[in-house]
Amino acid sequence: MLENKNISVCFTADQFEKYADGKSTVVVVDVLRATSVISTAFMEGVEAVIPVQTLDEALSYKGKEGYIVAAERNAKPIEGFDYGNSPFHYINADVKGKTLVLTTTNGTKAIHNAREHKVITASYINIEAVATYLIEEHNDVIILCSGWKGVFNLEDPIFAGSLATLLLDSGKYDSNCDSLFASKQLLNNANGDLFTYLGDSSHRRRLKSLNMEDDTRFCLSPPIKSDVIPILKGDKLVML
Ligand code: MLT
Repeated sequence: MLENKNISVCFTADQFEKYADGKSTVVVVDVLRATSVISTAFMEGVEAVIPVQTLDEALSYKGKEGYIVAAERNAKPIEGFDYGNSPFHYINADVKGKTLVLTTTNGTKAIHNAREHKVITASYINIEAVATYLIEEHNDVIILCSGWKGVFNLEDPIFAGSLATLLLDSGKYDSNCDSLFASKQLLNNANGDLFTYLGDSSHRRRLKSLNMEDDTRFCLSPPIKSDVIPILKGDKLVML
């Protein structure tokens, strides 16, 4: 009988060093919207995603055969890039077979901070596949919420509550993490309606002010599901 493994939840990319243990599998989530975009891009045929930290680094790939460059800062797309950070940008035939170079305010930073660990990315698009994979892998798990510029956001911990519940229900995990406990409480408070529950949340309001409510709806309850699990290999996210 295998011993149970541990799950913890880290609320922001900046706090990751407090959780880093060099051996856990890190599940990066930025449900609004970077990891939802990554899941959508792979579903639509993107070959790989290169998460980068700066606009200049992303632009260095501009115009290269087979590459798409995408950027977001403060939830807005950036002039001079092929795409922004809306999942709807990627639901088109042009992305098939391409490599996406992506830089966002928080999500790509979280991936960077965890790069010394085994890193996979999760969203509500691939949450079931991620849970199944983690249960089979049977390793300690750190769910790394991207947050917003170093501070807590609501949507990523709610996702962490969703994923942690799936893992704990398997009977193969334990947790002694208050962040995980709080995440499950937030999920319970949402009572199955994340869009309404997040009505006054900072990022939903930020996206609403930019007329991006459809993005929020899509990312919180996606009409599509994917078995693709993006995993970080070197500087690229590829399909597991
Ligand atoms: C992020 O990286 O913080 C988010 O994806 C921002 C966004 O594009 O909504």
